[in-house]
Order: sequence, then C-alpha cells, then structure tokens
Amino acid sequence: MNSREIFYKSIRRETVPRFPIWLMRQAGRYMLEYRQLREKYSFMELCHEPDLATEITMQPIRKFKLDAAILFCDILVTAEALGADLDIVEKKGPVIGNPFDSGNAVKALLSTEAACQKLAYVPKTLRQIRSELGEERALLGFAGAPLTVGSYMIEGMSSQNMAKTFRMMLEAPDLVNRLFERLTDVTIQYVQLQREAGVDAIQIFESWASILPEWMYLKFAFPHLKRLIETIYDPEKPIILFALANGSLWAHLATLPVQVLSVGPNIRLSDMKDQHSDKCIQGNLDARYLLCDKSVLLDKTNEVLNEMKTHRGYIFNLGHGITPKTPVENVEALCERVHTYELK
Ligand code: CP3
Repeated sequence: MNSREIFYKSIRRETVPRFPIWLMRQAGRYMLEYRQLREKYSFMELCHEPDLATEITMQPIRKFKLDAAILFCDILVTAEALGADLDIVEKKGPVIGNPFDSGNAVKALLSTEAACQKLAYVPKTLRQIRSELGEERALLGFAGAPLTVGSYMIEGMSSQNMAKTFRMMLEAPDLVNRLFERLTDVTIQYVQLQREAGVDAIQIFESWASILPEWMYLKFAFPHLKRLIETIYDPEKPIILFALANGSLWAHLATLPVQVLSVGPNIRLSDMKDQHSDKCIQGNLDARYLLCDKSVLLDKTNEVLNEMKTHRGYIFNLGHGITPKTPVENVEALCERVHTYELK
C-alpha cells in the first residue's frame, strides 16, 4: 500500500498497515538546503516563485520517509492578496505595513476575484509539485482561518495578546465582521483553486483559537470559520482542521464537517480519542521533543503510537511546527520509528 493510499485510508478510518506521517513545517530553517536558498531569496520570493516553492516543498520529501508533502507557502498570502503589504522579517516574523484599522481599510480591500488572480502562483506551484512528487504520495494544500489571518491584518505583526483585535471586536464588531467576511470569501475560492490543482486534502490553520476567551471566540470568530468549512465541505475531499484549543473549544470545533481534527501539544490524546471516537485525529507530539535526546524523543513517540493504536484513524504529526534548531537526525529517527511501527 503506497503512502497516498495509507493517508486516504487513515482519513476514512479504514484498516492500514501503519500510521501515515507528515510534519508541520517539514520544510524550513532546520534544513541546510532551505537555509542556503533563504540566503539568496526573501521568504516571500520563495513563496511566490513556483520553481523555488516546489524545490523547497520537495526538500524534506527527498530526505525523510514522509507520506505527504505540504505546499511551501504561508497562511498570510490571503491577506496579501486582499491588499495587505506583507513582509516576513528575519527574527521578527510577519510585518504588515498597512494594518487594518478603519472603514476606509474595508473599502481598500481588493475584490475576491482580483485577490484570487494574485494567488494564481499557488495552483501553478501545486501542479509543479505534483509532477515532481508523483502519484504515490499525498499532496496537502492549506489556508488560514479568518481569525488567525485577520488578527495579523489588524495587529500588523505577531502579537502576544492580540489587544487590538480584542478591542476592535468589542468596540467595532461590524468592522471585524466585514474583514472576516471578506477573508472567508477569498479563502473559499482559494481552497477551490488548490483542489483544482490536485491537492489530496486541505488543512485549515486556526492557530490562535485560544487567544480569546471562549465566548468571544464563539461570537466573533467561529461563525466565519463555520461558513468557510460548511461551504468547502465535500465528503470526497478531506479537510483537516488544525487548532490550538482546549477540550472545551474542541467540542465546538468538532461539530464542523471536517474529516480530521489536528490537535496541539497540550491536548491529552486519550481524552480526544474518547470524545471524538468517530473522527480521524492528527498530531499532538510536542515539537520540543525533537530538541531532546533521541532516546527521549523515541520513548515519547512510542507512547503516542501505543495510545493511538486503539483508535481508528490517526495521522502522526507534531502539535505545532518544527522549530529551527531541530537536529535533522531526530527528524529522520522519528520518521523511521513511525514507519516501522506495525498495526496489526
Ligand atoms: O507546514 C509547512 O511546512 C507549510 C508551510 C507553512 C509556513 N507557515 C512556512 C513558514 C505553513 C503551513 C505556515 C503556517 C503559518 N504561518 C501559521 C499557522 C501555523 C502556525 O505555525 O501557527 C502562522 C500563524 C503563520 C504566520 C507566520 N509565518 C509566522 C508567525 C512566521 C514567523 C515565525 C517563524 O517561524 O519565523 C512565518 C514565517 C514562516 N512561515 C517561515 C516558514 C518556513 C519562516 C520564514 C523564514 O525562513 O524566515
């Protein structure tokens, strides 16, 4: 059974000989090959240029036993397509030169059609990746959820507490709703473009779900995520929902029509298994284990594998992205371990 079949069967919760594995941020700074390209090009150039984005997507695939490739890009390109002046700055992260702050900012957003035209490099890249990747491995696309992308547009940069977003939700809720509606519209079309280009599944990143009190999340963010997911739902086309959320919020998120729930490192897998026995689950290994001694990493990996052996449908992954100081040998050992763990 090839990687792609194991991936699809796991999502459908059918019997598989082993768990599939891919890792969030599997391409990135921990790899020498990436750093060498990154010396020559800015991060946004790497995203925008299909030859470069294809090469980076393929780097971890050539090196490790991974069952799926994920498009090399960033969730903030939907914000950029709507008119945000986006840069990813070394050691600082995303910086947006024209933060979203007023009714005029709503008017300045580009139309959905114009935004999608600006995103045409993504389906082009995906087609190129597929021809290099072949048919035997899965190809994943992705998009950011309205809150997770929109909060960067409002803050203008990474923020610890998202104070501007918090304040705008309470003082100017219509403005926030207009922004999230427009982001949702673009994201629906953007997912469609990626599916037409042949992705096997789409992962939606709701990384900042826990930054708001639950009632605020449910009032201001969830309805937009719900519209996004209900609109793109198709029983034949898997959606993976990644969120950093606690068990109480997952109870709401899991009501959405997605095939896979991708959990962060702070969730207890045994609880997730009990509460969502009808869903495929992904993730959870704390990315910091990859910074530990190999024996510590493999002990914890075994624990996850043994735990999930009794659940139908599990995709091995981390609880969050690989960090830049991760030793390549540990990624190799992790992939090897998951690959050789037999399910009987
Ligand atoms: O998983 C993958 O390998 C696919 C590519 C991908 C990237 N970012 C590449 C990237 C994906 C799916 C993302 C998602 C993303 N981007 C999220 C959601 C997931 C998460 O991590 O919570 C968020 C919030 C962003 C926004 C973003 N982009 C931040 C906060 C940063 C800076 C943080 C950092 O690690 O430096 C980025 C930059 C970024 N995106 C890098 C990579 C490989 C590092 C850029 C560099 O080379 O300098």
